[in-house]
Amino acid sequence: MCGIVAYIGKKEAYPIILKGLKRLEYRGYDSAGIALINKDELNVFKKAGKVSNLEEFMLDQDHAGNSGIGHTRWATHGLPTDTNAHPHVSMDGSIALIHNGIIENYDALKQELVRQGYLFKSETDTEVLVHLVDFISKKENVWFGEALRLSLLNVVGAYAIVAISKNFPNQMVAARKSSPLVVGIGATGDFYLASDATPIVEYTKQVVYLEDEEIAVIKLGEELKIYNISDQEKTPYIQQLELELEALEKGGYEHFMLKEINEQPRSIQDCFRGRLNAKEGWVSLGGIKDYEQKMIQANRLILVACGTSWHAALVGEYLIEDLARINVEVEYASEFRYRNPILTENDVVIAISQSGETADTMAALELAKSKGATILGICNVVGSSISRITHAGSYTHAGPEIGVASTKAFTAQVTVLILMALSLGHKKGTVSESEFRILLAELEEIPNKVKKVLESNALIEQIAREYKDASNALYLGRGSSFPVALEGALKLKEISYIHAEGYPAAEMKHGPIALIDENMPIFVVATKGKSYEKVVSNIQEVKARKGKIIAVVTEGDEQVRAMADHVIEIPETNEFLVPLLATIPFQLLSYHIAVMRGCNVDQPRNLAKSVTVE
Ligand code: AGP
Ligand code: GLU
Repeated sequence: MCGIVAYIGKKEAYPIILKGLKRLEYRGYDSAGIALINKDELNVFKKAGKVSNLEEFMLDQDHAGNSGIGHTRWATHGLPTDTNAHPHVSMDGSIALIHNGIIENYDALKQELVRQGYLFKSETDTEVLVHLVDFISKKENVWFGEALRLSLLNVVGAYAIVAISKNFPNQMVAARKSSPLVVGIGATGDFYLASDATPIVEYTKQVVYLEDEEIAVIKLGEELKIYNISDQEKTPYIQQLELELEALEKGGYEHFMLKEINEQPRSIQDCFRGRLNAKEGWVSLGGIKDYEQKMIQANRLILVACGTSWHAALVGEYLIEDLARINVEVEYASEFRYRNPILTENDVVIAISQSGETADTMAALELAKSKGATILGICNVVGSSISRITHAGSYTHAGPEIGVASTKAFTAQVTVLILMALSLGHKKGTVSESEFRILLAELEEIPNKVKKVLESNALIEQIAREYKDASNALYLGRGSSFPVALEGALKLKEISYIHAEGYPAAEMKHGPIALIDENMPIFVVATKGKSYEKVVSNIQEVKARKGKIIAVVTEGDEQVRAMADHVIEIPETNEFLVPLLATIPFQLLSYHIAVMRGCNVDQPRNLAKSVTVE
């Protein structure tokens, strides 16, 4: 969480930083702040709330300066107030610093600094860093860059930090451990730093992703220097960004979420581009090819993830077990890492993460790696931390997902998992050649079928109007549509703040059925397939208690239509592929309900897009 952005060069820093903060706002929006160096002055501006609050405040402020740092916060320690907003500044007003992460031993450090006479203004963990840098630079008589390095030797926790000092106006230092940080190298000797590449791409495509415990030292007029925490110099690995600026804009849509929902025909297509050919009958996930035998022979595949990615993992479990007959377990990354899991070299742990930065998922992987397991990744963000620590992996290629509620990343994750299940099953011989070919051909049809589902938008909007004032909702599904129900409920909760639960349809009678009355909407995936008749019975049980049924059904289904209050049809497809289609009406429903309730769809309260803290 938290977005950090910085600029040093010949241009005006403020507009670059402000624009960067807007791009990074998806990472946190509790407060925003900027520090600018103008000649020998350090000016700091901070405001609780969104970047737009800060922008308004800045209208009548002097924001000159060619060097500066900016921060958009997702609070972990201390309320979202002006004072707790970053940047934090040393007592003598010379050093300013921004931070993304958590300083776990901040309390002990703070007590020591208080003993040394330091006064704290904020309740954040971050403020200890700036005082520590100041303390060490005075005690050791070193410049603030070296003081930052020495300070970090005493710090336990996660951080991406950028610091500036008015005593060194042409310099900037940055460091990272566990939280991401990218340095952009401009063509005219200027430098850009940010939590991800989105604020940078407009200015340069040459970037360096900092590794854990690396420190970047920037001096205007010199090349970028990278050191490890023990002060050994390292050669910066400069990469070329593939990101395009247009992908970061709303492209005429009112919200990023709506744009991203509508992008799914293309994002799914992009996901299997070059990886599948139904005519020739092959599927190939290049990134993990060398690990497929290992996966086939593994004790088990353990899929670790959080939130929506965890739901995709559950779909993956159904698919891989059924098609490839390999034992799969799905784990919440946050639980897995703390429960001393039994892991051996014969286990393959696969992390699924849109951002590739989720702290819990990273930690789960690190644990698995330390026990000798093979670790693989399914990530969307190219160059992300997870994609870099894994032995191998497959990108989802869904393009940047900016709306905090994940949509196109989910369908792309499911697509990769289908390709994985098919590839493993085919190699292992558990999928017959004919079934393999049928599935490949059907998969190629999915983008068109997604388009068709999106055509129901007006109907879904109408349904949304009817249920927008509900206080509770239930989502039901069976088999691989059970995770679709969980995902539907999560979408509704996170953007419209309506309490919603997802259940396997048959579980309803073990408790949740007690909640059903005439005010309770129940969203059900009731598509044709193995469990169709059973789901129909579950619908009857709901109707007998006067619940409202909104069913996602296979085109032409008259049986459920006769029972349900509303039906949303999706094209017929192979049962394995239903999650790719059935999830879309639920995304649109949540979207419309949230808009009708006046909620901030792209930036729901209390959330942030990438959760880089535990
Ligand atoms: C989904 O809509 C979320 N806001 C959230 O649950 C998300 O899926 C989760 O935080 C995992 O993120 P990741 O995929 O980037 O690891
Ligand atoms: N821990 C810092 C704070 O609360 C930074 C939070 C973050 O990175 O999300 O201000």
